[in-house]
Amino acid sequence: MRVAVVGQGYVGLPLALAASRVGHNVVGIDSNPELVALLASGKSPILDITDGEIDVAIKSGSYTATTESHSIKDSEIVVICVPTPLDDSHNPDLTSLESAIKTIATYLAPGTLVINESTVAPGTTRTLLATTLEATQLPFDLAYSPERIDPANKKWNVTNTPKLVAGLTESAAERAFNFYKSFVDSVSSGSSLEVIETAKLLENSFRLINISFINEVAQFCAALDIDVREVINAAATKPYGFMPFYPGAGVGGHCIPVDPMYLSTKAREIGTPSRFIELAHDINLSLPSYFAGVAKGVLGELNGKRILVVGVAYKPDVADSRETPAWGLIITLRAAGANVFWHDDLVKSWKNETSSAIDGSYDLAILANPHTDTKLELLGNTPILNSRGGY
Ligand SMILES: NC(=O)c1ccc[n+]([C@@H]2O[C@H](COP(=O)([O-])OP(=O)(O)OC[C@H]3O[C@@H](n4cnc5c(N)ncnc54)[C@H](O)[C@@H]3O)[C@@H](O)[C@H]2O)c1
Repeated sequence: MRVAVVGQGYVGLPLALAASRVGHNVVGIDSNPELVALLASGKSPILDITDGEIDVAIKSGSYTATTESHSIKDSEIVVICVPTPLDDSHNPDLTSLESAIKTIATYLAPGTLVINESTVAPGTTRTLLATTLEATQLPFDLAYSPERIDPANKKWNVTNTPKLVAGLTESAAERAFNFYKSFVDSVSSGSSLEVIETAKLLENSFRLINISFINEVAQFCAALDIDVREVINAAATKPYGFMPFYPGAGVGGHCIPVDPMYLSTKAREIGTPSRFIELAHDINLSLPSYFAGVAKGVLGELNGKRILVVGVAYKPDVADSRETPAWGLIITLRAAGANVFWHDDLVKSWKNETSSAIDGSYDLAILANPHTDTKLELLGNTPILNSRGGY
């Protein structure tokens, strides 16, 4: 089938390549010309995809990258994979999604199946997307299928991670099911768009709440001077009814701190506030001041102290620093007068700063998200505060 994937980031690119590998003719559309130039030259912007995979797809003629949206009119299926972040007040920001659906409506061909993969609050696919497409007065099908990709996960990828779909109509659901079945091992259908939109938010809200809970338990264990990781591993010997979550500097990335706010904003709108999510969000936002307090406890005084934050990506082994908890920590320490540097083997430059050397010249090193290959031994005798548990 002729497929257009709008947005060639962490979600859209792996999806486009997986579809192209099984013989679909895929065009990856992105509004970022630098990204498109990189892809067109056979270079991968993300660690999970090799340059070779892009090169093979381009040379086979089954994948092209472009900034031009007019190829939408030649596509039987258009998949939306654009960002759905939060604005400065932590409210959903649908600017990219609104812009993408307007462009799709402009070039819509009769009978096209449009699938939204961007995370949204329940009702958004039906109200925002269906309404915009209906205004074209052309026949179309519309489906929702949330993405579950977990960057740097070596076991679960686009093909073997089970996929959920739901359609505006039965025929839309069936077409989306058949499309994903051509390259995803397991696909399940939900009875409505809203069920599957909510399922996606439930998955990530579950993680936010549990990670925030364990971060609170970690503070309790630190106050008791016991090792939280030993406590978790002891509890995890229970073979049922317990799932281990591990502490850290806070949640980050484009999903876990963001998606639950789509649920809680909707929950407030309809008069059923989600106190769990709001509390978990508050705990997450409080972690920089907690760790700054611990650092002060170690050093006596933060003013003028040289502190190295190790690992500023949002999690180990990715180069993605979106919503990273390291930033809140860095600005909190700087506000207290500390001279803060950061080191990251994968994020080499960030916020107009560059990664500093990892060595023994600092008064304190705080481990935020060090990567597997980060050489912590180079810190020598530097005192280490490990946000993931223990000193
Ligand atoms: N990153 C993840 O691990 C992950 C996992 C599951 C779900 N999601 C969801 O998938 C969606 C996409 O996330 P992502 O991480 O791939 O984002 P991303 O920022 O990596 O990629 C999005 C791409 O869309 C492009 N874009 C933005 N507006 C556009 C437009 N109007 N037309 C064409 N291109 C446009 C951007 O230039 C960017 O390259 C989000 O809703 C996110 O919540 C992300």
